[in-house]
Amino acid sequence: MTRIDRLRTLGLFSARVPRYTSYPTAPVFTDTVGATQQAQGLAALDPDVPVSVYLHIPFCERLCWFCACRTQGTRSLAPVDRYIDTLEAELTLLRDLLPAGLRMGRMHWGGGTPTILRPALIRRLAHAVQAVLPPTPEAEFSVEIDPTLVDADKIAALAQAGMTRASIGVQDFDPQVQAAIGRSQPFDITRDCVTELRAAGIASLNADLVYGLPHQDSARLERTLDQVLSLAPDRVALFGYAHVPWMARRQALIDAETLPGEETRHQLAQQAARRFRHAGLQPIGIDHFARPSDGLARAAQAGRVRRNFQGYTDDSCPTLLGLGASSISRLPGGYVQNASATPAYAQRIAAGQLAGARGHLMSGEDALRARAIEMLMCDFHLDLAALRRVFGPSSARLLPDIAQIAAEFGDLVRATPEGLRIAPGGRVLTRIIASRLDRHIAAGGRFSQAS
Ligand SMILES: C[S@@+](CC[C@H](N)C(=O)[O-])C[C@H]1O[C@@H](n2cnc3c(N)ncnc32)[C@H](O)[C@@H]1O
Ligand code: SF4
Repeated sequence: MTRIDRLRTLGLFSARVPRYTSYPTAPVFTDTVGATQQAQGLAALDPDVPVSVYLHIPFCERLCWFCACRTQGTRSLAPVDRYIDTLEAELTLLRDLLPAGLRMGRMHWGGGTPTILRPALIRRLAHAVQAVLPPTPEAEFSVEIDPTLVDADKIAALAQAGMTRASIGVQDFDPQVQAAIGRSQPFDITRDCVTELRAAGIASLNADLVYGLPHQDSARLERTLDQVLSLAPDRVALFGYAHVPWMARRQALIDAETLPGEETRHQLAQQAARRFRHAGLQPIGIDHFARPSDGLARAAQAGRVRRNFQGYTDDSCPTLLGLGASSISRLPGGYVQNASATPAYAQRIAAGQLAGARGHLMSGEDALRARAIEMLMCDFHLDLAALRRVFGPSSARLLPDIAQIAAEFGDLVRATPEGLRIAPGGRVLTRIIASRLDRHIAAGGRFSQAS
């Protein structure tokens, strides 16, 4: 059996499993957890342990057809202005609940398109967060940037507000691919954006790329890779296109006939990964690459990479406060997600309530499995000794699953009394292997292709 046939029989092309940016995953959340548990969790935080903040801006000027992010198109800035008022009101509610002296170690603005904000709004919002949660001296602040919706004034406002890292959306530079995903983005505009970000002192720059898009082939991808590498990114995220039109209805605009076939898609991912390695970028987990000098690569060398809703990170803050519509907070007791639709979120905040509407309280077993899955996703190594130090003898609950994984995946994994390692040849199956530790998957929704 060829290598690819073997991977196929193990589900490389057919399995639909989560990306495990959390465990349990968001489709498992229920409305038995909401604002009450959110308030209790916030009030009980240790003021001496800095928190991370995620702030969601669910607006875009354009709505790219491929995009599965939670966002809405707007031509006017009026709803954006109102949304910032709501975020400020949410911050006031938090201020009244959080323990005095709590500080912020990380902040990330995502979306949607945070750079839809005018410079004055950028300054106002950053100031509002920092007034409630003063940053630690080494705090980092990262922002998702759409190169077609940013200018020098916005970049200056972000830099003034403390932005240390920027993530630009590229996806693909080929005009035919861009036309098929409803996203026009000339290379020159992207290059000018990078030049401005560098001039503003941004030392860590990430580029998002997507493989498996309509009309992508090896030659087109190679040209995109040349162009991306000419921008000298410090990090690259290489996502497999998730075609989930039942969730992201705008994807119905994409003709499924134009998507690359499964083997081509796999080869495109391998081609890009090879190219990044040759360019000196170190692979991180299943879909990131980083320069050895970048914080993410250094964290990988030290075994400190973590996985959160934004993907791979070197952020070690145990608590994440999610602000804005649909944002998820990770609190010591579990996850709480704000109301997803912007009007429902705004209504709750206007009524003087926290916006938590769904969530999941973590059992001891959930916490154990969450960490084990995270280890596989980050390091391809489930380290039982490390789990035992945190979770004690209950870590042995994973042994039957490890034995089952070893039986199913054979020499693509190596199981020992000390844990489980995924061999380099089995790493494309990591999401599938991790799913074997998932006790909630049957209750969850439909997921994207595993590769
Ligand atoms: C919030 S968006 C990007 C920020 C900014 N709005 C932009 O377009 O440049 C975050 C990233 O998610 C990725 N993404 C969105 N939809 C996706 C999908 N269906 N499959 C895979 N990746 C996707 C894209 O790489 C995108 O850059
Ligand atoms: S890719 Fe960015 S700009 Fe396009 S719809 Fe998604 S969030 Fe908006």
